[in-house]
Amino acid sequence: MTTCFLNGNYLDIKDAKVSVLDRGFIFGDSVYEVLTSQDGGIFGLTDHLSRLEKNLSEVMIPRPMSRDGWREVLAKLISAHEEADLSFYIQVSRGAAPRSHDFPQDVKPTVFVMCQPYVMDHEFHQVTCVTLEDNRWGRCDIKTTSLLPNLLLKNAAIEKGAHEAILVRSGYVTEGASSNIFIVKDGQVFTPSANDRTILPGVTRKLICDIVQSVGIECTEREVRRDELMCADEIWLTSSTSDIVAVNILDQKLVGVDFDYPLGRRIHKAFKDYKADNLLGF
Ligand code: PDD
Repeated sequence: MTTCFLNGNYLDIKDAKVSVLDRGFIFGDSVYEVLTSQDGGIFGLTDHLSRLEKNLSEVMIPRPMSRDGWREVLAKLISAHEEADLSFYIQVSRGAAPRSHDFPQDVKPTVFVMCQPYVMDHEFHQVTCVTLEDNRWGRCDIKTTSLLPNLLLKNAAIEKGAHEAILVRSGYVTEGASSNIFIVKDGQVFTPSANDRTILPGVTRKLICDIVQSVGIECTEREVRRDELMCADEIWLTSSTSDIVAVNILDQKLVGVDFDYPLGRRIHKAFKDYKADNLLGF
């Protein structure tokens, strides 16, 4: 049985039901988080909960529980599953109410948390990408479940035989359809800045920046032009479920000069070590 949490109850996911009037279902009026556990310990919980709280406040959904409350839910789900490594999905919607564009008053948010086995992979993977025009909305910093634009872009990339779409808006790189991006050029590391609302400020992105700095290399957040992407020595994608992967083919061309991507490999190893040392046990 796969146990999930729904509005205060722990139940088999097959029995978890939400109203068809739930605004998450009707409008995508909800925010979410994805995080992982390894050997029964959660990684990056404070960062994920901070982002969740920020997103809830951005979309004016009241916080449904305290940080201790979230921690307790995740701990209970960990103990309900045999697998040591899990990925968690947290969703908070504004709640169920008669369909209306106005925000309803006095509605309780719907809170859902599920987990699934997560295969912890220690390889440094290389993936194929294509560039696509970033046609999403102007608040990509909010981790909303309204992901249709991201899904269309991801699937357009898949149709072209790629793993991920690298998005470009008005000539500047933003992020992947479900990942953040870094480029390496002449030993320097750059990632598109997060202060213009065009990217989701990833928890992994922040940690990778810190790890790059900790090995004595500057990691600069700034605007990254499409032409810089196309002549990068290395390109990395980061996310909570895939950590850090290298892009080896972009728009059908090989990326870089050293196809072993040595800096990415080094940061991947450092990140894995950091993760193993920073798990929150219960
Ligand atoms: N997505 N940008 C987008 C658009 C994303 O969807 C994600 C992650 C990231 C990376 O954020 P983080 O490092 O905090 O996971 C960046 C997740 C994993 C998902 O939707 O499943």
